[in-house]
Amino acid sequence: MVIDLIAGARPNFIKIAPIINAIKKRKFLSNLSYRLIHTGQHYDNNMSESFFNQLNIPKPDYNLKSGSGSQAEQTAKIMIEYEKLLSKNKIDLCLVVGDVNSTMACAIVAKKLNIKVAHVEAGIRSNDLSMPEEINRMVTDSITDYFFTTSDFANDNLKKSGINPSNIFFVGNTMIDTLILHRKNFYPPKVWKEKSLLKDKYLLITMHRPSNVDLQNKLRDTLTAICKYSRKMPIIFPTHPRTKIILEQIGISFPNLILTPPLSYLEFNYLVMNSKAVITDSGGISEETTVLGIPCLTLRDNTERPETVDIGTNLLVGTNPKKIKQALDILFDLEWKKGVIPNMWDGKTSERIVNHILSIPELNT
Ligand code: UD1
Repeated sequence: MVIDLIAGARPNFIKIAPIINAIKKRKFLSNLSYRLIHTGQHYDNNMSESFFNQLNIPKPDYNLKSGSGSQAEQTAKIMIEYEKLLSKNKIDLCLVVGDVNSTMACAIVAKKLNIKVAHVEAGIRSNDLSMPEEINRMVTDSITDYFFTTSDFANDNLKKSGINPSNIFFVGNTMIDTLILHRKNFYPPKVWKEKSLLKDKYLLITMHRPSNVDLQNKLRDTLTAICKYSRKMPIIFPTHPRTKIILEQIGISFPNLILTPPLSYLEFNYLVMNSKAVITDSGGISEETTVLGIPCLTLRDNTERPETVDIGTNLLVGTNPKKIKQALDILFDLEWKKGVIPNMWDGKTSERIVNHILSIPELNT
């Protein structure tokens, strides 16, 4: 069986790495082989190559070099290039992860060529159609054959939409496989020494969602509230390229705000693990902080990962400055909830995925 593994953007690399390891482990016991397809959605060294190096991801077999563009341009470029590739070689399964444009684009192309599609992280929903990722999730799941899920919430969403339960495989979270495997290797980035950072004595921010960063006034107000109500603690902000452009336009500066370029996986998670709290609009980071037991303040009004709020360390704060103040007051004056690790987020998800793939009769004839 030949599987295409699709990876295009930063969080995809983290999710695909352990699946490759699990396939390699089974290589000699099965007829399973894979091609790694990098769509090129993220292409800068610090958004792509550094993840390949640190997570020991092999060089991609193909790079579709789609690059940036509007939602439609980027999706279309990926589709055109992936269709060309699939028309040359027959594969048995296209495995996509997460919810980025590469996920949806490749799922559509494969399905239209009658190739089975597996979706890792299927079924999660924010019900917020203003997020491009929500549209990617809905479209991908509507044409997926095999659904690998992270939570009961995802299982329920899929069942409610009429998916046959025998095609839903509750396996856990491959992002957490990577976190658990590499946790011992986290190391401090340059900023740690340069700013004499100390454990629990700084905050870490990430923001990149178009709805949070594309409007200058909104980004300015959010950052102003965070800097003003964080009791002068240093705030480290590794800036995504999209956010950096807007920050340069608004020229914002606060004495306690420290901007850095995007960090590598091992450096970023060192900062997460030692921080007082993480303030973010990322869904993946709210999963990682839940497992690491670090308080997470999410700058969104909804989440497709409700388990991080219900049983984890995540709190939905939104971007209203009053709400940001209230959440920071809780963080500094009261005890933050401790949280527990969700079921199956145990570092073995990728092995379960590969075992399931090898036991699906129609893929193994
Ligand atoms: C994408 C995903 C988002 C994910 C995020 C992780 C979609 C719709 N969005 O958002 O779900 O959380 O990745 O980072 O797929 N750029 C560079 N260098 C790069 C990549 C991007 O400079 O290597 C710049 C480009 O100017 C680009 C902008 O960043 O236009 C945004 O990149 P894009 O891939 O369109 O979406 P992200 O915001 O990164």
